[in-house]
Order: sequence, then C-alpha cells, then structure tokens
Amino acid sequence: MQTLTTARLDLVPLDPDRDAASLHAMLADPETYPYGSGDPTSDVAETRARLAEELTACGGWTWVLRLRSQAEALGTIGLFSDQGTSIRGLTWALRGDHWGRGLMGEAAPVVVDHLLAQPGIDGVEAWIDTRNIRSLGVARRARLDERARLPRVYADHTAQQVVMARASEAGEQDVLAVRTSLAVLDVPETCRRLVQVLGLTVAFQLGEPATFARLGVGPWSGSPGIDISAAVEGLTDTGALTVEIGIATDIVHQRAVDAGLEIVSSPVDQPWHRREFVFALPEGQQIHVVGPARPPG
Ligand SMILES: CC(C)(COP(=O)(O)OP(=O)(O)OC[C@H]1O[C@@H](n2cnc3c(N)ncnc32)[C@H](O)[C@@H]1OP(=O)(O)O)[C@@H](O)C(=O)NCCC(=O)NCCS
Repeated sequence: MQTLTTARLDLVPLDPDRDAASLHAMLADPETYPYGSGDPTSDVAETRARLAEELTACGGWTWVLRLRSQAEALGTIGLFSDQGTSIRGLTWALRGDHWGRGLMGEAAPVVVDHLLAQPGIDGVEAWIDTRNIRSLGVARRARLDERARLPRVYADHTAQQVVMARASEAGEQDVLAVRTSLAVLDVPETCRRLVQVLGLTVAFQLGEPATFARLGVGPWSGSPGIDISAAVEGLTDTGALTVEIGIATDIVHQRAVDAGLEIVSSPVDQPWHRREFVFALPEGQQIHVVGPARPPG
C-alpha cells in the first residue's frame, strides 16, 4: 500500500490507532449511514475497533483522505471485505462537515485506477442506493458504470441499489442479456397478465391480434425480458420461468391475486434472504417470483 495524491489530497494508508480520533466524528454520525444502512459508533474505542476489523477483512486496502499537509483524516476509501473473488467491492465515506467540496469525487478516480492496476483485481464495484445521488456522482467520477440492480432490505423498508462497476481491462461482454421465450395460445392475454403482475413493458407486438410480442423488464433498448409467440399447431410451452424482482414480493403476489391468477405456492421466506412465490398464467405456465426478504421490523 502506498500513499496516493490528488490535487488537494494525500491518500494515506489507514492506521486505526492513528486515525480513530479524527474519524470518530464520521463513524459516530448517523448521516454516514444513509437510510439506516448501519449503526453509529458510540466512542473512539469502538471506532478504532471497527476500523481495525474492517481493515483486516479487506486485506489492508483502505486509505484515509487528508488535505495536503494536514494530519487529520477526513474520510476513508478502499475495498470491502475480501470475498475471495477477483471482483472487489468499493466503499467510501467522508465526514459530514466536508461534504460537497468534491473531495471524494477527487479521491475515487485515483484510488480506482490504482486498485485496477493490482494483480488479482479484475474489476471493482460499488453497490449504491438509488437515492444516494452524491455517492453515484462519486462513482461516475471514477468512471464506474451501471451494470445491474439489486434489492436492498433496510430495517424498515426495501429499496434498490445500483451496481456501479469498472473492469481492469476495457472490453465488451459476449452476452448482453438473456431472454426467454414462451409459446402460448393467446398472446395478447398472456402479455396483458405479465404486464399487469410484473410491470413489464411491451417493446413491440406483431399481428392483429398479436402473434408475437416482446416484453422487456424496462422501456430501454436492449432490456432483457420475455418473447411471447403464438404456439405452432397448438403446442404451447409448459415450462416454468423465474423472475427476480426489486420490489417487495408481497406487492407482486397481491397483484397476481387481484388479477385472479392461480397462486401455485404462497410467499415463503428462504434462508438465502429471498421471499418467493409461484403463480400460473391463464394457460398454466408457472412464473416463479423471487424477491427480497422482508424488512426485519
Ligand atoms: C458519498 C460521499 C462520500 C460523497 O462525498 P463528497 O466529497 O461530498 O462528494 P463530492 O463533493 O465529490 O460530490 C459527489 C457528487 O455529488 C454531487 N453533490 C454535491 N453536493 C450535492 C448536493 N447537495 N446534492 C446533490 N448532489 C450533490 C456533486 O456534484 C458530485 O456529483 P458530480 O460529480 O456529478 O458533480 C459523502 O456524501 C458521504 O460520506 N456520504 C455518507 C456515506 C455514504 O453514503 N457512502 C457511500 C455508500 S455507497
């Protein structure tokens, strides 16, 4: 680990003993944990212990931000705990009295460039709540792009996180999206139900009445989704398909109930932090819905 520099900052490897007193103002501040994403520390000893624990877990990859020639640590930036993969998680936080000065936006590009040059790191990603506009700005400054969305369960509500990521070697993915297809007797009715329950978007339909429709998870070009086509000689698909959702499972379950569709299995909590249920389309195809676990509160 080496000290990195930017126009205004020295980025110095974290030392919990040296930096705990300066960083306590950050880790003890509820504002550092937006939407209830963590618990503030109560004294400097707890701050030191948390910094030490996180530093060990991430393999030592944490820097503190210091204004040039000043000893006080204003924030931290580095890797999340090592999960044994070559794609590593990023984390950053700044003392509230220094927000909005462009400091983290200045630090992040330098740190990310440095990390991506390390052997064993093929990419970095930050999971950022969609409401955390400042943090998304920091990620964009570091040339991270949106790659995916994940549900995030807080103590009292469910939200979504953007997976902002950058690979060490620029390149294109071979596969852009996976799209499934379903052959049915009644294309318009199947589409109507899928849109009603899952909130899918109709990209386009062909025929009057439609004999083919492309549904997307969003309205954007290239969205993954489902192709619905008219069954040839009455041979419909009977197989089940699974959809992962970013809103509460019970909301989608209620939509399926309201639509009068058969509930094949009611919502159930899984030990892997998901809540799932299965409904059937009018022609019997089963849709397995996988959503976030319920908030503990
Ligand atoms: C996220 C955090 C580190 C940002 O640090 P910062 O030094 O204030 O960030 P910057 O000043 O570099 O600004 C980052 C972006 O927020 C924007 N921003 C600044 N002030 C803003 C405001 N009041 N409202 C909205 N956006 C604002 C900036 O314009 C910039 O975006 P841009 O690059 O597109 O212009 C800081 O807010 C923080 O510590 N938050 C709590 C911890 C946290 O959320 N960590 C991230 C978890 S994923």
